[in-house]
Amino acid sequence: MRAMTDFVSESVESFLKPIETNWQPSDFLPDSRDQESFFNQVKDIQGAAQGLSYDVLTVLVGDTITEEALPTYETWLSRIEGIHEADRNNPWNVWVRAWTAEENRHGDLLNKYLFLSGRVNMREFEKSTQFLIADGFNIETGHDPYRNFIYTSFQELATNISHRRVATLAKQQGDLLLSKINGVIAADEMRHAKAYMSFIKKIFEYDANEVLIAFEDMMRKKIVMPAHFLRETGMQVGGLWGHFTDAAQRLGVYTAIDYANILLDLVKEWNLENLCDLNESGEKSRDYLVKLPERLLRISERMTNPVNEYEFKWIGVRD
Ligand SMILES: [Fe+2]
Ligand SMILES: [Fe+2]
Repeated sequence: MRAMTDFVSESVESFLKPIETNWQPSDFLPDSRDQESFFNQVKDIQGAAQGLSYDVLTVLVGDTITEEALPTYETWLSRIEGIHEADRNNPWNVWVRAWTAEENRHGDLLNKYLFLSGRVNMREFEKSTQFLIADGFNIETGHDPYRNFIYTSFQELATNISHRRVATLAKQQGDLLLSKINGVIAADEMRHAKAYMSFIKKIFEYDANEVLIAFEDMMRKKIVMPAHFLRETGMQVGGLWGHFTDAAQRLGVYTAIDYANILLDLVKEWNLENLCDLNESGEKSRDYLVKLPERLLRISERMTNPVNEYEFKWIGVRD
């Protein structure tokens, strides 16, 4: 981690955007100071949101709650070995704060959109959000930077996919504003994915065997999504998660095939196939990982689409 401080310092510049010119949630929302146009624009937003299907809304609310649980992610990143011990001006800590500051706009924007849309029971959504932050998560990375940056590489790619697909569905269903909102968020996720993938790529230069072992370990445990503890009122921890992923799988917003393809992208990005000069454990992990995407793809092709259409308290009765 110490060897990488210059690299991380440059990464803040190259992968994150200057705050002065970066987009802000209000760029996509009506200005509440201008009373007349504000209420007209809210009417337009509510009109367009009427066309969104139940499943799209469900996935959108779940994605928003995932973004709103940012305190969990910042706390956990700042506890990684090599970051935790460093002083506040260390590039690693600067990175964690700057990344968090960019991510914070996602939950803000989506939350405000949901509020204006007129389609969501905001109190239920807010309760689920408070539950999720209170429950935290268990991603089984420990405080190990290798496992954590493999996780974040995977995760940023996954959120890029799901926001991008919601953008496409929103457009198809006539909500152009929501489509734009999800589009700009997806673009941020891609920049972040590139950053975390570059961290791991750099670590490969120093410690290929150990990062391969960490990668294999993460894939054997399976990458759980950050909102896997999702629940609504009256439920045990994680009780809502399966219903949420059912909707995402059914819509094709995030599927088992995507999971396998993300892994394939990472295997290619880190050039696993051509890694040599490894020790025995490193070679074993490399061979396992290179074959894994194909195996997962075969399994996912045999999976059937979930049919159970749960009624979420966030949205209410299905019609
Ligand atoms: Fe995000
Ligand atoms: Fe992200």
